[in-house]
Order: sequence, then structure tokens, then C-alpha cells
Amino acid sequence: QAGLKNRLLEINKEAAKYFYYQLKSERGQAAYGYLTNREISDDTIKQFGLGYSNKTGDDLYQYLKHLGYEDSILRESGLISFDEKKKVYDKFWNRVMYPIMDVNNRVIGFGGRVMGEGTPKYLNSPETKLFDKSRNLYGLNFARVSRKPNMIICEGYMDVIALHQAGFTNAVASLGTAFTGLQANLLKRYTNEVLLTYDSDDAGIKAALRAIPILKEAGLTAKVVDMKPYKDPDEFIKALGAEEFKKRMETARNAFLFEIEILERDYDLSDPEQKTRFFNETAKKMLVFTEEIERNNYIEAVASKYLVGFENLKKLVNRYGAQIV
Ligand code: UTP
Ligand code: MN
Ligand code: MN
Ligand code: MN
Ligand code: MN
Repeated sequence: QAGLKNRLLEINKEAAKYFYYQLKSERGQAAYGYLTNREISDDTIKQFGLGYSNKTGDDLYQYLKHLGYEDSILRESGLISFDEKKKVYDKFWNRVMYPIMDVNNRVIGFGGRVMGEGTPKYLNSPETKLFDKSRNLYGLNFARVSRKPNMIICEGYMDVIALHQAGFTNAVASLGTAFTGLQANLLKRYTNEVLLTYDSDDAGIKAALRAIPILKEAGLTAKVVDMKPYKDPDEFIKALGAEEFKKRMETARNAFLFEIEILERDYDLSDPEQKTRFFNETAKKMLVFTEEIERNNYIEAVASKYLVGFENLKKLVNRYGAQIV
């Protein structure tokens, strides 16, 4: 098993080098141009090991075969596909390639982006003996040595890359998948606080709402940074620059108050009936705070924001759950 894993790591490393080399070659010109257009520097390309997978359907396969790897292990790498008729082709072709590294800088998988429009926008390595999406965070190999007081969690490859390039070297991405408890525990080894900078669209808001309790469960403090009117950190930084992004980070909102703000959208607070239901929902949510001072602080914050009496709200909260010691 260890032997197999090591061979898969070797294959990934060879593939990453191959993609990187292709990007810098004649055939990779369009891909290199694509990255340049997105303001990715040569240094960043090198740091993240970005590359290009050729148009010809089995270039990587031929190359890896030439290096001596047999079909059986290439199949396990997730880089090469074998169809029923035993036809062999590269999983990634004509895409900008993003090696995914673990915390020890080992390449465990890849993402590939279509240049311009097209579906799927990103193709990712399948789960392999090396690659388990739910256990890794893109960029953590760099972020963990960034010596910053917190970590930034964003959605995508390009967000992490743009953030690091702009000096926010503590950025990681959950890569479009739902943020998991394993990822939260992994982060907890390196930090106590995270800033969520998910996309400002509905999908991003939903993802943030799902991540918040998972982060809290792992003992991490979470804050939410609003990317509006831009879609994501990459677009924000491109439009307004690093200084403005830094200011946004400083105004990051408390995760619970963010949740309540989103909840509020479902209610018309000018209607007493709906307002009552809103406070009931809010009170229920406050049961996550099991320490008295913490709970009181949240009750106070919500009470003053929504103009309701502290004692009234406190009674409501206590009605939903046991009073705390
Ligand atoms: P987004 O759709 O927000 O893309 O998906 P993006 O990161 O902003 O990409 P650009 O800026 O258009 O290049 C966020 C992340 O979700 C995963 C990828 O990891 C992506 O970075 N994703 C998205 C996929 O795996 N497949 C897809 O087809 C789309
Ligand atoms: Mn040779
Ligand atoms: Mn998105
Ligand atoms: Mn995005
Ligand atoms: Mn984007």
C-alpha cells in the first residue's frame, strides 16, 4: 500500500512537471495567454506549478508510458482513462492545470480549467488512493507557513492564487465541495480564526451558512467577509486591489450575526406576526451558545440591533433550551 501510494505520488509529480513544461512551450501559448490575461505572474505560475494539458488526446499517457509506468497503475492515478474498448486517453486535455498539493507539498490530484467558456468549467481528479477531497484544502501547504493570525477560506483555485499573489498568503479553498469537519479539524491545527470569503452569489451564501456550524464545532471562530459587488475574492482584488481587500477583512462580520441577517430576509419585520416568528427562530439558533456570557453577549447584540428588550429575548431563548450554568 505504501509502495503504491509512493508510485502514485511519483506519477503525479511527473505529470505536474509535464503540464508545467507544456505551458511554457509553443503548444501552451493560449493557456499561458489565458493566465496572463487573468493577471497571474510567472512567479505565481511557478509557485503553484500551473500547467497545460495538450489537445492531443493521449500525450500524457504516452509520456508516462515512456517513463515506464504500466497501465494498471496509470489507471489508479486518475489521470488516464480507459474505455470499454480499451481505448486510452488523458482525462485532462486542452485545460489549464492546477496541481493540488497536500500539506507536505506533495501533488495528490489536479484540477483543470477550460480556457474561456465551456462545461464543465473545472474538471477534477477522481478520488484515488491519494486524493480525498474532503480531507484537503487547496493552498494549505503555503498558508500553514504564512504566519498570519488567521486563515482565509474561499471557494476556488483562482481565488487562492489571486489572494496569495496579492499577499494574502493565508488563503485556502475547499474547491467547490461542501466544507467538511475533517477540513475544519485540519485548519484548527494551524489557526483559531477563519475568515470566510465565499462567492457573493446564492451558492456562496449557502456554502458559508453550512460551513459556519462546522467551524464552530471544530473550535474555530468564523467571520464572514462580503465580496459584493464583486463575485469572489479574485474579482474583488482585480477590481479594487489588495488594500481594499484588507479593509474588507477588517470589517468582517461575526458569523452568527451574518446568519441572522440572512435569516431576516425570509421575514417581513414590519409584520408583528412574522417578526415574532423571526425572533423565535433566532432564539432557537442561540442555543449553540452554551456559555452564559457568550450567550448573553449574542442576546444583547441581537436585542439592540432589532430593537427588542434584552430580558424578553433572553426569556425566549431559555424557553427553547435548558438554562445554562
Ligand atoms: P466557481 O464557479 O465559483 O469558479 O467555482 P471560480 O473559482 O470563480 O472560477 P473562475 O474564476 O471562473 O476560473 C468555485 C470552485 O468550485 C469548483 C472549482 O474548484 C472552482 O474553483 N468547481 C467549479 C468545480 O470543481 N467544477 C466546476 O465545474 C465548477
Ligand atoms: Mn527517453
Ligand atoms: Mn462560486
Ligand atoms: Mn467564483
Ligand atoms: Mn472566479
